[in-house]
Amino acid sequence: MVLGIETSCDDTGVAVLGFDGKVLSSLLSSQIKDHAAFGGVVPELASRKHQEAIIPLVRAAFSDAGIDDPAGETGLVAVTAGPGLMGSLLVGVMTAKGLAQAWECPIIGVNHIEGHIFANRIAHEGLDPPFLCLVVSGGHTEVILVRDWGNYELVGKTRDDAAGECYDKVAKILGLSYPGGPEVDRLAREGDPAAFDLPVPMSGTREVEFSFSGLKTAVLWAVSRIRDEKKEVPVADLCAAFQKATVASLLGKVCLASELTGIKRVCISGGVSANSALREAFRDRFRENVYIPPMDLCTDNAAMIAAAGLERFLRFGPSGLDMTPDPSASIA
Ligand code: KG4
Ligand code: ZN
Repeated sequence: MVLGIETSCDDTGVAVLGFDGKVLSSLLSSQIKDHAAFGGVVPELASRKHQEAIIPLVRAAFSDAGIDDPAGETGLVAVTAGPGLMGSLLVGVMTAKGLAQAWECPIIGVNHIEGHIFANRIAHEGLDPPFLCLVVSGGHTEVILVRDWGNYELVGKTRDDAAGECYDKVAKILGLSYPGGPEVDRLAREGDPAAFDLPVPMSGTREVEFSFSGLKTAVLWAVSRIRDEKKEVPVADLCAAFQKATVASLLGKVCLASELTGIKRVCISGGVSANSALREAFRDRFRENVYIPPMDLCTDNAAMIAAAGLERFLRFGPSGLDMTPDPSASIA
């Protein structure tokens, strides 16, 4: 068995995977309600909550997988080593080290972004490199060329905010609850995207790069103008216009990446890939060449970390017990 542990941000994830790649259990302890009052993730609180959740979740994951003897049956511990919040990463890495040492099995540190790429491998058995993967979440907006499993090239990324971060900030401006992505997604379906003319970020360049801070400011200005005029803010229309511009930017840059690299097969992954308009736009544009994970594999989870760790272990061998988390680790 492979034990997977994910604690890079605000979700504690533990999964058990067979060495054949089959997911036997995957559990998540969400901290959303702990951070909601602050409108975003509070790092110190996140690490404390991971600490409380992690050991009971490890026990529950083995029990769900029907394994009575974790010490005897675990052949590898895979853990997210970065990027992420240092305090959060440390809880996962130190737990993984303790278990690997006690159970006398190897440990492997996994890049969180590589994990998101592997969410698609779990979901789509026949998926083989090369392909492009858009990893789009609360912390990341990156296009990665997957030449082979374990062999990556960063094609482009955001200059400032991640798309999910922008969703969350726009939701906050509009008075919606945290995390804002699902709420903006839902309201956008009821709104008129043509009611506001928001800019599609970076649409004029031939570079694969994103920028979402200007779009966020455009929403902020639109809202403060309407409030100054003492009018009611048309929240659904603003959500629809914002979502249209965001999806156009993400789709446009992945199309450009496909054109520049000559790679036709495309995956999306990360929390924002749960967005209904983004999924529809990618399906329309790339048809049989697009791979999209089911919702539970889009957001952070430990099954994707276990899958990425297993492949890395089989190809390159284990990490040492002296491995340390790297909050700003990059994939390539
Ligand atoms: O991958 P994830 O669980 O954690 C990070 O690694 O960041 O992504 C969380 C992000 C949040 O910003 C959340 O608002 C966004 O994904 N998100 C969505 C949707 N569901 C989650 N954004 C847009 N539409 C959604 N349906
Ligand atoms: Zn993530």
